[in-house]
Amino acid sequence: MPHYHRLGHIPPKRHITFRRPDGGLYAEQLVSTEGFSDLYSLVYHCHPPTQVLKIDPAYSVAPKVADPDNMQHRLFKGLDVVPDDDYLDSRVPVLVNTDCHISLAAPRQSMKDYFFKNSGADEMIFIHRGEGILKTMYGNIPFTPGDHLVIPRGVVYQFRFSSTDNRLFIVESPQPLRFPKRYVNKAGQLLENAPYCERDIRKPQVLETHEDKGDFLVKIKRDGKIWPYHYAAHPFDLIGWDGFHYPFALSIHDFEPITGRIHQPPPMHQTFETPSFVVCAFVPRLYDYHPQAIPAPYNHSNVDSDEVLYYVDGDFMSRNDIKQGYITLHPKGIVHGPHPGTVERSIGAKETKELAVMIDTFRPLMITEQAFAIEDPDYWRSWLEGK
Ligand SMILES: [Fe+2]
Repeated sequence: MPHYHRLGHIPPKRHITFRRPDGGLYAEQLVSTEGFSDLYSLVYHCHPPTQVLKIDPAYSVAPKVADPDNMQHRLFKGLDVVPDDDYLDSRVPVLVNTDCHISLAAPRQSMKDYFFKNSGADEMIFIHRGEGILKTMYGNIPFTPGDHLVIPRGVVYQFRFSSTDNRLFIVESPQPLRFPKRYVNKAGQLLENAPYCERDIRKPQVLETHEDKGDFLVKIKRDGKIWPYHYAAHPFDLIGWDGFHYPFALSIHDFEPITGRIHQPPPMHQTFETPSFVVCAFVPRLYDYHPQAIPAPYNHSNVDSDEVLYYVDGDFMSRNDIKQGYITLHPKGIVHGPHPGTVERSIGAKETKELAVMIDTFRPLMITEQAFAIEDPDYWRSWLEGK
């Protein structure tokens, strides 16, 4: 993931005395992943991060699966998800399996009276609509439409929106969400042939140190439940930190498409990977330039992955009647391909304005009750001529 980063004040060596102006010690905390064997950061709190005042009863936010054995192409109208004032209450799981939870959210208000920490999964939050600042214990990240906000597990955060029409496409991964291995060299640097580079990765830049003590509610998510923890110190009380484990933003508008003489397959559009699913970005680009090229994709059978597309903007070249916020699910085991007329329409076209995020999961996705509430039940018939 991103390279080494540091903000604020840290001691010259790890695990040595580091004193506050009043002579007391800052509280060092190691935030490490895969035990002590992978990415980590060392953070320095003004107050011990362990002081719990109270734990309210946990409550379930587990997805309500309505169809665990989907074997049908599906379309969901994502913008039909009902907005909610509260960020956490607005998160609606739509497609889930043990490796991946895909949710939609339309929060109207900023998080004012609580903080959130996902302890069980990394989060990738794609900002379809809305802008503001993602405030985190590691510092602030301003965001605008098109940003992928990647928030590793364990990061305490708060959304501060400067807009009320906010539309988020959220993916939770119990396994680490990383840059594709083929994009990085042995030192972890993004290679010349990657579609984005370190300059496109926006790290936390402003570290606000809140030293206040009191009663601070942090809603902690793990295993389908929210645990409301009350802490005695503000969770954003870091005086400094350094390491490799921190949130960052990557805009889909900074993703440089790789094009060719003939149709390029989806892996050319990849942004992130986990051991069990990939994330891709389809962005405006020039079309294939072989004189007989067919820019629209061929029919394809996803032999070993379910394919989810979230349509952000522009006309999607291989689909008819697709609107902003729509989600299609093409499960493994069934052939899908361009809609009637789209192949001919694509021949000779010079460019596409499409903007979409794709998730391909190796394990089948299950459909929630909330997803069926926004489904177009006739989508599976949409490849018939004349439909
Ligand atoms: Fe496909």
